[in-house]
Amino acid sequence: MTIFASYSIKGGVGKTALAVNLAYALREDGHRTLLIDLDPQCAAAYYFRIKPAAKFKFKEGPKLAGRLRRNIRESDYPGLDVLPSNMAYRNFDIMLDRLKKSRKQLRSILAPLAEEYDSVVLDCPPNLTLLSENIFRVADHLLVPVIPTPLSERTLEQLYQFFKEKKLPPNRIRPFFSMAQKSNRLHREFMAQLRLDYPVFLDTVIPHSVHIERMGQRRRPALDYAPGLAATQAYRKLCLEILKG
Ligand SMILES: Nc1ncnc2c1ncn2[C@@H]1O[C@H](COP(=O)(O)OP(=O)(O)O)[C@@H](O)[C@H]1O
Ligand SMILES: [Mg+2]
Repeated sequence: MTIFASYSIKGGVGKTALAVNLAYALREDGHRTLLIDLDPQCAAAYYFRIKPAAKFKFKEGPKLAGRLRRNIRESDYPGLDVLPSNMAYRNFDIMLDRLKKSRKQLRSILAPLAEEYDSVVLDCPPNLTLLSENIFRVADHLLVPVIPTPLSERTLEQLYQFFKEKKLPPNRIRPFFSMAQKSNRLHREFMAQLRLDYPVFLDTVIPHSVHIERMGQRRRPALDYAPGLAATQAYRKLCLEILKG
């Protein structure tokens, strides 16, 4: 089972758009896929027309993993399941903090899923917390959308710094450009500069596109309702680029 996390310290950078379309692309590639929404806002599940998880006791204990997994739902696409979050997920960190091996809890929650799924996609909340550290330890690929603006470099640097302090493997971090505007000179300049500073950037660029923005109205992956566009195909290209390694 391969675990992909769509993660950034920043909000509004395209994490959920990536998670939703990546899960769709993986399923189209024949992977039995589970999309897990770890953000209390529950946007990823919303895009699949799936309601937030039913209320349950969000507290530690041997039954926690089972309680979480019991909320897995089938999506409209066979082979693609979704585990929605709910507002209780905002307490994930508090709960983790009380546990032993608090940095490896997500690993034990996800481990039993390996029998049923080839790929798991995590849609992460925007912060740098104990939950994030669990994500860093379990994800095979940490996909980081970067909008080509000056602040983004700082955020990426902070992430690498954190990995260094915690002795985590930095090669798991896979940044890529998100919402890039070809016609914007500043964007072009920042992209060129950031590629020089961080040669690990994925080649595939997700452009800014109204067709992707429309996901909020359509409530389906953009790759499903607009498969013929270069902008949406960028998600498939990104998926293939990551799988290629
Ligand atoms: N490539 C894109 N082009 C245009 N709009 C986008 C693109 N990706 C995301 N959006 C829009 O930007 C907003 C934030 O995207 P989202 O994926 O929710 O970010 P995050 O999960 O990082 O907060 C949403 O309204 C979304 O529809
Ligand atoms: Mg999001």
